Amino acid sequence: MLPRCHYDPAGAIALIATEPPGGAMTDAVPRPVAAAVAMPCSGTHDPLPDYLQRYYWWAYLRPASLRVFDHRWVVSAILWGQYRRLCDAALAQIASGADVLQLAAVYGDLLPRLARKIGPSGRLEIVDIAPIQAANSNAKLADMPWANARVADAAAPTGFSHDTVLVFFLLHELPDDRKAHVVDAALAGTGPGGRAVFIDYARPSRWHPLRPVMAAVFALLEPFAMTLWRREIASFASNPAEFDWSRRAFFGGLYQETIAARRRDPPTNGIDRQFTAESGGRR
Ligand SMILES: C[S@@+](CC[C@H](N)C(=O)[O-])C[C@H]1O[C@@H](n2cnc3c(N)ncnc32)[C@H](O)[C@@H]1O
Repeated sequence: MLPRCHYDPAGAIALIATEPPGGAMTDAVPRPVAAAVAMPCSGTHDPLPDYLQRYYWWAYLRPASLRVFDHRWVVSAILWGQYRRLCDAALAQIASGADVLQLAAVYGDLLPRLARKIGPSGRLEIVDIAPIQAANSNAKLADMPWANARVADAAAPTGFSHDTVLVFFLLHELPDDRKAHVVDAALAGTGPGGRAVFIDYARPSRWHPLRPVMAAVFALLEPFAMTLWRREIASFASNPAEFDWSRRAFFGGLYQETIAARRRDPPTNGIDRQFTAESGGRR
């Protein structure tokens, strides 16, 4: 069993409500975050990374962020109406009763839908580096005790293996070295016969009407996202040859689902490894 960090859902809701309206949007670490760090937990907490505090504080680290963004229609608007479709793609990879690790919280209804699909005979473990996000996820999952969020860095391997590891729109927000660590952690958490599922941005086709719009959005708001237009997710992995990689494009290529299925018998020859690394894992 993984070490567990249980948040009291009522406490989590109270926690989110402690920040006075209008007083939250400062650069100081908000009280709910500080309070959540102080909550009892069997694990240790990583400090909030610089990229998160510098570029994404407004989206994830304030109580106002939750009030503004944690709605299905808001995420759907950000993803040009594709949120439901991308969530459905993720859910299609999850079996009832599965043991699933979700790297980072997600706004909207993906987490409750995941937990419902897994059901009480399975297990959903969510790790998020921001205490306010872990607390908010636990509040959303309060009636499903087989689902639990805890505070941890997704780049740190948990030391446990799962049927499925899901990484939903996390990579594009990370500096490249962190992307590589998260990809490796996701793969390390994938047990024999299991799969890591990455859903994220990708390079849209040359004539995609949103291509210049997204390039401008990335330049303004998402400084680490463009790498996913240039590199395949498999190219971040230290040991890509231990997996069979497949990739599916959505919405004219603006989004991708990349799946790494762990081989039961890893190849021993260097040719296969070279093929997979050079082709970015595409078959
Ligand atoms: C999954 S990503 C983006 C999700 C998507 N934009 C949405 O709809 O919510 C956002 C989350 O990643 C978390 N995060 C960022 N870096 C992390 C890391 N190294 N480990 C775990 N969680 C991280 C943030 O705290 C935030 O909750």
